[in-house]
Amino acid sequence: MVTRVLWRKPTLVLVLVVGFCYGRQDKSVRDEFEPVLQPPNRVSLWPLPQKVQISDVSFTLSSSSFRIVDGTGSSSGPDCALLQDAYRRCYEYMFGFAKKSGPNHSRRTGTAELTELQVLITSPDSECDGFPGLSSDESYELSVNEQSAVLTARKVWGALHGLETFSQLVYEDENGAKSINATKISDFPRFAHRGILLDSARHFLPIKVILANLETMAMNKFNVFHWHIVDDQSFPYMSQTFPDLSKKGSYNPYTHVYTPTDVKRVVEFARLRGIRVIPEFDTPGHTQSWGKGQTDLLTPCYSGSKPSGTFGPVNPILNTTYDFMRRFFKEISTVFPDAYIHLGGDEVDFTCWKSNPDIQQFMVEHGFGKDYTKLESFYIQKLLDIVSTTSKGYMIWQEVFDNGVKLKPDTVVHVWINGASNEEMGNVTAAGYTTILSAPWYLDLISYGQDWQRYYKVEPLNFNGTEAQKKLVIGGEACLWGEYVDGTNLTPRLWPRASAVAERLWSAKDVTDMSDAFNRLSAHRCRMVQRGIPAQPLLYSYCPHEYKGI
Ligand SMILES: *[C@@H]1O[C@H](CO)[C@@H](O)[C@H](O)[C@H]1NC(C)=O
Ligand SMILES: *[C@@H]1O[C@H](CO)[C@@H](O)[C@H](O)[C@H]1NC(C)=O
Ligand SMILES: *[C@@H]1O[C@H](CO)[C@@H](O)[C@H](O)[C@H]1NC(C)=O
Ligand SMILES: *[C@@H]1O[C@H](CO)[C@@H](O)[C@H](O)[C@H]1NC(C)=O
Ligand SMILES: *[C@@H]1O[C@H](CO)[C@@H](O)[C@H](O)[C@H]1NC(C)=O
Repeated sequence: MVTRVLWRKPTLVLVLVVGFCYGRQDKSVRDEFEPVLQPPNRVSLWPLPQKVQISDVSFTLSSSSFRIVDGTGSSSGPDCALLQDAYRRCYEYMFGFAKKSGPNHSRRTGTAELTELQVLITSPDSECDGFPGLSSDESYELSVNEQSAVLTARKVWGALHGLETFSQLVYEDENGAKSINATKISDFPRFAHRGILLDSARHFLPIKVILANLETMAMNKFNVFHWHIVDDQSFPYMSQTFPDLSKKGSYNPYTHVYTPTDVKRVVEFARLRGIRVIPEFDTPGHTQSWGKGQTDLLTPCYSGSKPSGTFGPVNPILNTTYDFMRRFFKEISTVFPDAYIHLGGDEVDFTCWKSNPDIQQFMVEHGFGKDYTKLESFYIQKLLDIVSTTSKGYMIWQEVFDNGVKLKPDTVVHVWINGASNEEMGNVTAAGYTTILSAPWYLDLISYGQDWQRYYKVEPLNFNGTEAQKKLVIGGEACLWGEYVDGTNLTPRLWPRASAVAERLWSAKDVTDMSDAFNRLSAHRCRMVQRGIPAQPLLYSYCPHEYKGI
């Protein structure tokens, strides 16, 4: 996926330049909100729960006595490693960064102490050992009152979100004592698919960076890691069926690859945080790196009557292409447990196909005329049939839908082209397909100022369509393409800008107050910093606990 510059309007470029040179003087590019310096550690929930009531009654918490326990009658017990792991994380978020003052410091006279959070899973099947999916129940209820706190969820997925929310309720009072107020929260996501796309092909992303971002995704209640794992530039995925793909197609076959163990680690780390991993293997375009390890896979381009030595998209006219795809996606379907695979299908350049006499002949034989979208559809159709036999569902970029390819009813169409994306959402849902939105959330397109506001103001259902159509919008994804991003700058570039998308996809539709969002997001960003995530600032301000480097 190339981030097209087509739709970067000239006016925007002008503002960029002005902003860059005169940002300090020019009021027209001044940010909408002046910073409001928060009292340190004010409670700030992000994303905002659906229903929340916080009272003025507060309790202290002490690291020596506070415990998180399985509630009596919970369907999940000490054998649920997923929850035990989440309890530890929650405890660390609450106390891991406390001043070394000992438990006594946190005792305030006349204030009750909260000593326990009980976690109760009510459904007989907690799904502790399962994988999260599109229809997972992520809801939870949280109640904190006199000396007891109870987190109730039907499944572990809701409990994970509830634990994160609980940790966000804890603040340091003016004496540095950990405190929490009596609270009632009832929460569930507005959209089921809340994703982040990372691109490990334009630049290799070390596993450590990927894991740190999964961790941060969980702090923001994102639940899909869309792993754009290979592209033209490199093929870091180590295939067991076709080892030459990464041996020859990666930047380095020893240091710049994801081994089967690496992939397992990412998938499990994500699962423990309620995050699905959807890999993208984009074809027939964006496949230059595939060709290095698999001869005859790509179309030879011609210069006049002779092959030019360069290659184009996957060669759609050879049976061997489909034999390869069958074996390749059989492996992918077992390596990645999620019910969906992203098959790409975007930005296919027809120049090479047009130059190749064998392709031209094939076009004639199949009555495609001069319409190369028909050839593209021919390929995608066969690929979709192949992937269907693995019993996986598929996601595809919008061009596949635009070109009229026959899709399974449960296909997820990924809308990414900016400009008419509302109209596209209308078209896709009118045709009965589920869809996710990314067009306004290309976070790799950076500009001066508080661009999180732009992401935050997006309303995914703002298109002309029936209620039934709107139900087909299952969520969206923030995309961070990797042309200018690697392990050095990924995390600060993504956070907290992606947090704006997180709240839009989780919280109620009417959560749109920009100044409240600014205050909460500033505090949330400081919280991420305190937890060791180098999230960049929104605007001038300070954090009670500044980033100390690595
Ligand atoms: C928590 O309680 C304290 C008083 O104990 C109050 O000052 C504060 O505003 C409360 N916090 C919230 C978020 O309501
Ligand atoms: C904490 O308080 C207890 C009882 O009040 C006392 O025995 C103990 O010495 C105190 N510990 C510290 C580190 O001050
Ligand atoms: C390719 O497969 C088609 C359909 O199975 C078959 O008719 C055709 O002969 C095959 N071509 C070659 C070159 O094997
Ligand atoms: C939506 O469909 C209409 C009618 O087919 C078409 O004219 C329009 O170009 C489509 N919009 C987009 C964004 O593709
Ligand atoms: C809905 O359709 C009307 C009439 O065609 C148009 O004026 C309006 O801009 C559309 N709204 C959106 C959000 O696309």
